[in-house]
Formats: sequence, structure tokens, C-alpha cells
Amino acid sequence: MNVQANKHSADATTVEEGLAADNMAMPVDSKTATEVAMQNTLLTPRFYTTDFDEMDAIDVTPVREDWDKLIGQMKSDPNKGHFKKNEDWDDVDWDGMDPALKREFIDFLISSCTAEFSGCVLYKEMKRRGSNSDITTLFQLMARDEARHAGFINDALREAGIAVNLGFLTQQKKYTYFRPKFIYYATYLSEKIGYARYITIFRHLEAHPEHRFHPIFKWFKEWCNDEFSHGEAFALLMKTDPKLTSGGNTLWIKFFLTAVYSTMWVRDHQRPAFHEALGVDTTWYGQEVFRKTSEISKQVFPITLDIDHPRWRKGLDRLEAANRQIAKGKTAGGLGGSLSRMAGMAKAAAAFVSLYTIPALKHDVPEDTRLEPAY
Ligand SMILES: [Fe+2]
Ligand SMILES: [Fe+2]
Repeated sequence: MNVQANKHSADATTVEEGLAADNMAMPVDSKTATEVAMQNTLLTPRFYTTDFDEMDAIDVTPVREDWDKLIGQMKSDPNKGHFKKNEDWDDVDWDGMDPALKREFIDFLISSCTAEFSGCVLYKEMKRRGSNSDITTLFQLMARDEARHAGFINDALREAGIAVNLGFLTQQKKYTYFRPKFIYYATYLSEKIGYARYITIFRHLEAHPEHRFHPIFKWFKEWCNDEFSHGEAFALLMKTDPKLTSGGNTLWIKFFLTAVYSTMWVRDHQRPAFHEALGVDTTWYGQEVFRKTSEISKQVFPITLDIDHPRWRKGLDRLEAANRQIAKGKTAGGLGGSLSRMAGMAKAAAAFVSLYTIPALKHDVPEDTRLEPAY
């Protein structure tokens, strides 16, 4: 096994190899970065655990044809070797970077790395616990991809003298339990919104290369194609059981759509310098990503959120303001701080309810689920 130890995570063919690769080692002490990744708030990426036996029992027979095609595509591994620095990787002037931009960009990289790694840990665990070869094969392939993604972001962070201690995170970060159907909704959406986010930035920078302040954005196209396939896999998993996307479960789907969209909105609005450097209007970007994600999610969800409803933007702005109040109260501390924080939480809850109760748009779900990345 030692022969593989000096590989780069980009060349790894399994998640185990990826995690053992040289670029996963921690050359610098990055206590703060790891502390940031350890945070568990409503807005930070979490680690999940689930009922692995129930997931292992999924029978993919109803979607067999599409399933085999997708797995074949993922096995052919078009992105092997892609996620590492090459001659396209320009020098990054970390010291010359505007301090606010540097802070927000590093925050962006750490939270992206944590999110990638969170997927990796969950998928790897499913692969380890399962005995259903359809399921374990899929999860092994997805874990492989996420390990590469996390490894690549860690490469970028390392240049800034920072690395997230992924081993420590696996052991010490709190795991949130979600029953399998919630894992499907949440993970499906996070893969698809991840695709929509990365492709929107990629296309924007294609048209405005002068805003590409870091080389990692050049890798976003292949990156988001991986996420797109992962989302496809979850769409097929949900297709195996029509109950998952009908009846009372529609309310859960609406809940997850609202939670995922509004979390993204609030988090992105916390990074004004980052979006300004990209030349992207955060509000435009948010709506654009929602629009793409909604269009894609029609492949399996019978509803989408009405993001043009007059209450939508208002609700998001209220949520964002409430969130700023919570953060301020936390920093202030003391009785005044706590009271203001609690008031902020009540405001956030009210804003969320107002978003959740906007009537959803209904539509028919196509017979044929499979999509190709089209943006
Ligand atoms: Fe990923
Ligand atoms: Fe993914």
C-alpha cells in the first residue's frame, strides 16, 4: 500500500488513496482554520450521519437503465488527474491581496473544503457500511470525487499558509443525524446548487477574465460537472420510490428548498468583498443560482419555490438582517448581547416562516429523469 502514499489526491482512484495522498498531510499548523471548520452553526457546513442499513436496502431496479449509464460514466473517470495545480495555475499574491478580500476568500475556501469533505465522509461511510453493490459502488465513486475536491482546495489554502486538519475534523466534528429521506433531499439539493454556483461563477469569469483573482476558478467547470453527476445519482435514488417526492413529503421538499436557498443567500451576503472582486452582484448571483437550481430540480421535485413572489426577496433580506443582529449580539456578549441575539433569532424564525409559506409552483415531473449539465 505504501507505493500509493506519495500520490496526489487528484490521481487517486479510490477515496482511501485520496485521503492517504501526500497533499492531504498537514505541513503547517492551522489551528484557526480547523477551528473555523469545526463550527456548527445554522450557516456552516455540517457533517451528517444516517440510517445506513435503510439506505443499503434501496433497490435500483426501477431506474436500472439510467443507473448503469450514470455509474458507467462515473467509472470512466473523465476528471482523473484534473484536480491539481498545473501550468494554468497562476501565482497568487496573497500578501498583496486586499485584507478584507483575503479574509472572505479564505473563509470561502475553508467552508467549501469543509462541505466537500463532509460529503466525502458521509459517502465513504455509506460505502463502508453497505453490502448492496449498486449502492456501495456509487458511494465509493462519489467519495473519491469529494476527496479530490477537498484535497485541491487544501492545496490552494496551503499556499496561503493554511490547511484544514481533515483527520481531526472526521474525529471531532459533531455529526448531525438525518433520516435517509432527508439526506436525499438535502444532499441532492446541495449537489445541484453546488453545480449551479460553480457554473455561474465559471461562465461569468469566462466573459470577464479580469475578475479572476485566483486560479482555482479555472477548475470550476469540471468540478461542477462532478457535482452534477452526484446530484443525478440522488435524483435516481429518489425515483426508485415515488412516495419520496409526493404527498406529505412535498412539504419536506419545500422546507429543504427554502432552507438551502436562504442559507446560501445569507452566507453569500456575508462576503461583500469577495463578490465585488469577482465583479458579481450578490443579489443577482443568488437569484440566478436559485433559478438554475429550480430548473434542474424539476427533474424530480413536483414543486419549485416562487422566487419572483413579492415576499421572497423581502423575506431573504429580513433573514439576513436578523442574522447580522444575531452575530452582533454574540460579539457584544453580556445580557444586552444575549437579549439582542434572542430577538434576532425570533426575527429570523419569523422571516423563515414568511418564506416557507409563499405558495409553491407546482408542475409535472418528467418520466425520464436524467439530465446533462447544460449551463
Ligand atoms: Fe465536491
Ligand atoms: Fe458532490
